[in-house]
Formats: sequence, C-alpha cells, structure tokens
Amino acid sequence: MVEADSKVPQHILVIGAGAFGLGTTLSLLSKPAYNATRITIVDSSTQLPNPSGSSVDANRIVRADYAYVHYSRLAIEAQKLCRDTSAQGCGGEGRYHEPGFVLTADAGQGAYVSQALDSVLSLAAADGGLDLSKIKELHSQNDIRKATGYEEVSGSYGYANYNSGWADAESCVAYALKRIQKEGGDRVTIKSGARVERLSFSGDECTGVELADGESIKADLVILAAGAWSPTLIDLQGRCLATGQTLAFIDITDEEQAAMADRPTIMNLSRGMFIIPPRDNKLKIARHGFGYINPVQIPRRNIQPRLANGEITPERYEYVDVSVPKAGVPVPLEGQEALREALHELVPHMADRPFTRTRICWYCDTPTGDFLITYHPRHKSLFLATGGSGHGFKFFPVIGDKIVDAIEGNLDPLYAREWRWRCDEELQKIYGPEGFIGCEDGSRAGPKGMVLEDEMARTR
Ligand SMILES: Cc1cc2nc3c(=O)[nH]c(=O)nc-3n(C[C@H](O)[C@H](O)[C@H](O)COP(=O)(O)OP(=O)(O)OC[C@H]3O[C@@H](n4cnc5c(N)ncnc54)[C@H](O)[C@@H]3O)c2cc1C
Ligand SMILES: *[C@@H]1O[C@H](CO)[C@@H](O)[C@H](O)[C@H]1NC(C)=O
Repeated sequence: MVEADSKVPQHILVIGAGAFGLGTTLSLLSKPAYNATRITIVDSSTQLPNPSGSSVDANRIVRADYAYVHYSRLAIEAQKLCRDTSAQGCGGEGRYHEPGFVLTADAGQGAYVSQALDSVLSLAAADGGLDLSKIKELHSQNDIRKATGYEEVSGSYGYANYNSGWADAESCVAYALKRIQKEGGDRVTIKSGARVERLSFSGDECTGVELADGESIKADLVILAAGAWSPTLIDLQGRCLATGQTLAFIDITDEEQAAMADRPTIMNLSRGMFIIPPRDNKLKIARHGFGYINPVQIPRRNIQPRLANGEITPERYEYVDVSVPKAGVPVPLEGQEALREALHELVPHMADRPFTRTRICWYCDTPTGDFLITYHPRHKSLFLATGGSGHGFKFFPVIGDKIVDAIEGNLDPLYAREWRWRCDEELQKIYGPEGFIGCEDGSRAGPKGMVLEDEMARTR
C-alpha cells in the first residue's frame, strides 16, 4: 500500500518525446507512487516519432564499450532488457540485434580503445554480465579483417566485442509511444506539434510552459528533455552544446545487403567513422566527432531578479551566444568528403555511389560527455534530463528509472556525481581558454570548433 504523499506532483509536464522524455514517462507509469499523477508530453514535431529528433534514425549502437566503467555497467543493465526479443520485449520485432562491435584506432590514438577494452574485460572477469569469450583483442590488419568481414580495412589495432549490438532507433521510439498510450490511458496526454515557446516562472519557481500557439500549460514539475534543443529554453550557461554530426546513406544490392547484414558495427576512432550493419538495402555511414556548432543569440532571463536591497528588478532579457540545432540542412562539403574517404577505406567498390540522403543529426554535448540529469540549481520545479552527448540512446530501457530516482533524490551517488550541475570553475578547466566548443570525453575525432555556417559556405 502506497500512502498518499503530498510531495508527489499532481501534474508533470515532459518537454520532448525522445529517449529521455519517453523513458522517464514509462518509468513514472511503472511506479505506484505516481498513480494519481497526470503526465503531459509536449513535442514540437507534428510527427511522432520525430524524424528530426536525435532518437530517430535507422540505427543506434548499443555497447558496453566505454572508457568509463560506470557507463559500461549501465549499458549492461540496458542490454539485459534489450535481449528480451519477445514481441512485447524491448528488443522484440527487430528492435535489437547483437552482431558485435569492433573498435579500432591508429597508433598513438588508441587510449580510449584500450581503456574501453579494460572496462569490458574487467566486468567480464567479475561476471558483470558480459561473456569473456566474446571479447578479442586485435593486433593486426588481418585480425581486424577477420573480425569484421571488411576486406579492405586498414589499421592494425583494436578489439572486437561480440556482446555488443545495435537498435533500430525509430522503432524503439514507436514502441515506447505505444506502451505509454497503453499503460498511461487517460492519465497521459501526448501533444505533438506543440512547440514550447518559453518556460513560465513565478519568481524562481517554474510553473509550466507557454506554447508557440499561445496555450499555457501549468505543471507542478517540468522535465526538460528537449535533447539538443534544451539550451534554447533555458540558459544552461555552457553546460550543453548542440553539435551537428554528419551521416549519409547509399543504396546497396541484395547480395551486398546479405553479405553485410550480420557483420559487427565497425568504428574507427581515429576518424570517428562508423558503419552499422545495413537494413533494407540502405547502408549508413556516420561520423562521431566534435561536430559543427551553430551559434545564435538567444534571450536569457535576467539572472538577478532581486537587487541587493531586496527590490525586485523588472523582468529583462539579455542575449547570449548558444549553439542550437539547425534542421533540414544538407551535410557540408567537408563532411561529405570525410564520409566518402571512409567509404573508400571500408567498402571501396561502393564508395563512389551517390548519397541517397544526407543528414545532420544533433548531439546535445556536455563538456565531459556526461549526461545532465539534475534539478536546475535555481528553479527547483524544473528538472533537467538532457545532455545525451552522442551516446544516450542505448540507455533508453534504463535511463527513465535513473531520471525518476534523481527526481526523488534516490539516484545512486555514483551517477548523481557524473550527471550533476558542475560548477563553472570545473568546466573551465575541462574546456580551457577557447571556451566550450567540443566534447572532451576522449572518444571524439575530426576537426574541432567548425562553425556550420562557414562550412556551408565552402564550395571546394
Ligand atoms: C547521428 C547520431 C548518432 C548517434 N549514435 C548513437 C549510438 O550509436 N548509440 C547511442 O547510444 N547513442 C547515439 N546517439 C545519441 C542518442 O541518439 C541521444 O543521446 C538520444 O537519442 C537523445 O535523446 P533525447 O530524448 O535527449 O533527445 P531527442 O530524441 O532529440 O528528443 C528531444 C525532443 O524534444 C523536442 N523539442 C525540442 N525543443 C522543443 C520545444 N521547444 N518544444 C517542444 N518540444 C521540443 C524535439 O522535437 C525532440 O523530439 C546518436 C545521436 C546522433 C545525433
Ligand atoms: C581510420 O581511417 C583512416 C582514413 O579512412 C585510415 O587511414 C586509418 O588507417 C583507419 N584506422 C584504423 C585503425 O582503421
């Protein structure tokens, strides 16, 4: 029997129907303490799953291969759920596949690779949910060829982890939406085409949102899970940076599809390039890098509403530079050339085929690559669930429980530490005098600090 608790919010508003927002909603629905709570999810996209959201794409890598062992552990928790491939299970109906993951790097750039190998080996040895016999260090070009099936691959160091896999991202989001509708019934409202124009405040308290169409929605708790768009709604003061990442698709033949379908994902960390096994004769090549930034000026609410003498200053906006997503733009030449070069390296015989589609997909990067999952330090009814930093998707089955733990103040201190609101001094030490222009999680390659508009202007 759960006692009525006056502290349980009566109405929770979730901004964003991606992995973080939907995962949180599913977790709330599973907990009896919230049986009397109404939940509203708003998303600016008229179409859900949102084709421009970071959580929607052909595929996402699901791997415990992290240099930081706590993410490895969390990924293993998620994978246990992914491996339920019954129709109702997380991984059912083709949502999850496990052909392995091969991580390579050139000499001198292999630090992340060997740290990730240490993480998975130590967890496998400790019976941490990984099969040790499925992890193999690769010491030569020939080893890498054999492990991946890619004939032409260069490079001579890396490792294979056949405990890892990938998820069909779009169908995972569709599955979560369906479950929310079924498990939430009348308690949950999902509003698509509902763009939050601004958060509403009464003093320091966040009281809800105003939508672009003028509607206002009041809530006791607002959860900001707007992915790379999060810094457009509240000034996160250098804690989240939208970075545009490049990807492209080429068409492949039935024979090529059959040959590549069950190969492991291969990722070359020196260049950040990766290929996930294709489906439906479409091969995706993508870069996990520092990405493009798109700085714009956005209004910021005055930070000091009270003067020293206690007088309330009038509401006032100042403008700050923030990198935000720009939707619907093609990949700049720089990115197209880099993707081509990687195709030449991995699949030379198909490298000159036209791209059937290119896309810039936006990461919500934090300086350390850790998520930002915490109450806003000043607005206590505003909870931040964002900062996916290009690796958040795999945690879809477990991140909601962690977010709800954090809302309740029960998050494992290990995660609470990683996902906290870091102080300015700590952040400045991480990104240095240039300011925050790229994520320093050790896994990024390619040029840093490229400005999207400049790259778009280049024609050769
Ligand atoms: C190209 C690419 C490859 C990736 N690869 C991997 C991978 O292999 N493995 C992995 O684990 N992770 C990967 N990631 C990272 C992962 O996809 C993200 O961390 C995760 O999906 C983020 O989910 P989210 O819910 O925070 O954001 P999103 O899915 O973007 O959801 C945010 C939602 O908020 C909505 N929104 C924004 N602003 C507003 C507003 N003002 N009003 C209303 N709604 C709003 C948006 O419409 C959007 O639907 C990748 C990301 C990208 C871009
Ligand atoms: C990474 O890619 C580059 C360029 O495609 C290539 O020169 C290099 O050998 C690759 N490294 C590994 C380890 O595969």
